[in-house]
Amino acid sequence: MVSIATRLGGFSFDNCLMNAAGVWCMTKEELAAVKDSVAGTFVTKTATLDYRAGNPEPRYQNVPLGSINSMGLPNQGLAYYLDYLLELQETEPNRTFVLSLVGMSPDETHEILRRVEASDFNGLIELNLSCPNVPGKPQIAYDFETTETILHEVFSYFTKPLGIKLPPYFDIVHFDQAAAIFNKFPLKFVNCVNSIGNGLYIEDEQVVIKPKNGFGGIGGEYIKPTALANVHAFYQRLKPEIQIIGTGGVLTGRDAFEHILCGASMVQIGTTLQKEGLAAFERITEELQAIMAEKGYEKIEDFRGKLRYMD
Ligand code: SIN
Repeated sequence: MVSIATRLGGFSFDNCLMNAAGVWCMTKEELAAVKDSVAGTFVTKTATLDYRAGNPEPRYQNVPLGSINSMGLPNQGLAYYLDYLLELQETEPNRTFVLSLVGMSPDETHEILRRVEASDFNGLIELNLSCPNVPGKPQIAYDFETTETILHEVFSYFTKPLGIKLPPYFDIVHFDQAAAIFNKFPLKFVNCVNSIGNGLYIEDEQVVIKPKNGFGGIGGEYIKPTALANVHAFYQRLKPEIQIIGTGGVLTGRDAFEHILCGASMVQIGTTLQKEGLAAFERITEELQAIMAEKGYEKIEDFRGKLRYMD
């Protein structure tokens, strides 16, 4: 009776849960494992034009309430992920998958997107405007002028279904300003949020990751309130054609329920997937369905975005 099926960017998925870019998505083997789990789909590791080794290790650390990472966009390069996705279009024509990408410069981003545009890829594309971990490269989406310029240029030639991965914003004025920009474009979705950038975790008087003297993106339980706030702030402000993916602090079915209540159409799991493995999808699916059954909700549209306020 209870369905957690969803639609995003015009495509249908039988489960609204999926991985967050960065977790279980570096290789074809990892992507295939997510595909064959109960997750509704997968997103690839953010692809740059060419292979990148990323930052020196150790660059990811689980910590009690979440994780800290400064991976530095290690990935196999666009062709690797695109080839795999094109292969899947032949073998799994009824499913839709997500390609995450960004260039190391605006020119490279355009080069990548032009290649995707020219390819036969017919899934969803997530442009990552929020990586906090490449030394010397700020998170693009914190610079509203650059973000608007990039989106303006992209939509002059790009016609495939595109969304953007956002960093968390922390100020109501920034929600307003960012939403006003995003509403100018035919985006299919925004994904809120990437890690909270440049946190510091200390153990025995020492940092726990090597790059950037220990500064890294924070994920997991620490970030749920920030993630929910961003999901809901954009749900309130964006035109209805721009859907929301909720990411951040999803440990349980209740967390996924809250993301949907705040307006998310799809929910991504990052740190919990890293810590628990693929079994997390099954557990969180069952927990979410149990909450919905208890409340008498049959589908996620019955409560999506219906967060109640106080009088
Ligand atoms: C990384 O590779 O550094 C993480 C990617 C991201 O946060 O966007």
